[in-house]
Amino acid sequence: MNALTRDLIRLTENAEKSADADGRFRQRIHLIPPVGWLNDPNGLCRFREKYHAFFQYSPFDAEGGVKMWGHCTSKDMIDWEYQGAALYPDQPFDCHGVYSGSAFIEDGEMYLYYTGNVKLEDRGDYDYINSGRESNTILVTSRDGQTFGSKTELMRNTDYPADLTLHVRDPKVWKHQGSYYMIQGARTKDDTGQALIFRSSDRINWELHNRVEAEDPFGYMWECPDYYETGGMKILSASVQGLKGGEWEDRNVYQSGYFLVEGNILDEYRLSGYRLWDYGFDYYAPQSFETEDGRRIQIGWMGMPDCEEYTNPTIRDGWQHCFTFPREVYVKDGIVRQRPVRELEERERRVRTEHMRPGSDAFEVKDCEVYDLTVREVRENKFRAVLGEELVLEHRDGRFEMRFTDQDKGAVSAGRGTRYVHLEHLEDIRVLTDVSSVEVFINGGEYVFSTRYYPEKAHVRVEAEGAEIKFNIILTA
Ligand code: FRU
Repeated sequence: MNALTRDLIRLTENAEKSADADGRFRQRIHLIPPVGWLNDPNGLCRFREKYHAFFQYSPFDAEGGVKMWGHCTSKDMIDWEYQGAALYPDQPFDCHGVYSGSAFIEDGEMYLYYTGNVKLEDRGDYDYINSGRESNTILVTSRDGQTFGSKTELMRNTDYPADLTLHVRDPKVWKHQGSYYMIQGARTKDDTGQALIFRSSDRINWELHNRVEAEDPFGYMWECPDYYETGGMKILSASVQGLKGGEWEDRNVYQSGYFLVEGNILDEYRLSGYRLWDYGFDYYAPQSFETEDGRRIQIGWMGMPDCEEYTNPTIRDGWQHCFTFPREVYVKDGIVRQRPVRELEERERRVRTEHMRPGSDAFEVKDCEVYDLTVREVRENKFRAVLGEELVLEHRDGRFEMRFTDQDKGAVSAGRGTRYVHLEHLEDIRVLTDVSSVEVFINGGEYVFSTRYYPEKAHVRVEAEGAEIKFNIILTA
């Protein structure tokens, strides 16, 4: 261990000791940082009888800083136990951030691949796109999932194609027909986003194998790419920066979505149009893994980078951001959908369940913060719900909306306004809340909206004439 690592461990532990464990908006069933800032999920996997989730972590400042990897484990993907920081920015090749990456499990060993970020000291002439930075691909292994070995530098910018800027990052690794493949996000010198696929026969030595782009240039940078097959669909996920004009004007600063892949992503392929994973305010950089029973689980960062429009008042309490609740990505009727992991329903069996068929009266529950509400058999799109007295979920004028009635940064919204999707028929809707978040799944999870919110009173009121309402209070451990 070098002297810097030793100090970083001590400083991190001190910062964690000063954390405000009872802060008003701390989440109950969503992974949050013990203190400071969290962004992308990293290294998601099942290893030695536990789920592991790492996260981009800046313990010293709730508004961000140099990133390390925080580490949590869980038995059920609902209650997460913090295990300490796993990887610190303590080497010349990752000294400005242990950036995002993934876990690959084989033969009882955990392989963690990530990007070592280096920003050279500003001499006044760096643009930090084509000059002044390094993106190194690093490997760390672990046999027990608790202690992590030394870091090996696998690739640096000179190993990536020469027509790329210095923005290459976020490796995700999988195995296919005896070979290992790694996908990374990239920005070309002419400002086009794309993904690179590398191949290896030993998990250590990697060679460029293919490059993946949309038919027409699509954004300037693809972050955190992921590739997998589920339900017969081939899915290329990417968080895209630089989409402008048209529908993007009403959306978040950056997007997170997927392309369907026709053909073979390792060879000849064609990408479909891009579809968003989530239409809400807070969703970015998702990553996925497969459970032992073959489910594809995806977790996103319930936050948004470089966002000036809205904020999170938890900054006052010394922390910011959380993960989304883990979702199963599944395919039904040829459509890619998402739903909360089924472990949640097992948890719900321990709680009060109410079924109601109200007439024209509203369904109301007061003072309940963590619940799972399902409304089925919605009639003629008649649906309106108000959460925390200021967050409206509603079908009107051919669209489904998530709308805050007060967009002030001091309000429940903390600055958020309206997000929507065009929707002809609203059939069912599921709303999963925590103390300071709401995740909405529409029509069997065909569309999802996620947002943070900061209610004084966690009331919910639903108007959905003739529909069936099921309300589950979720107890936490
Ligand atoms: C996405 C991202 C990644 C990067 C990480 C740094 O939110 O920008 O591309 O690895 O965050 O924290």
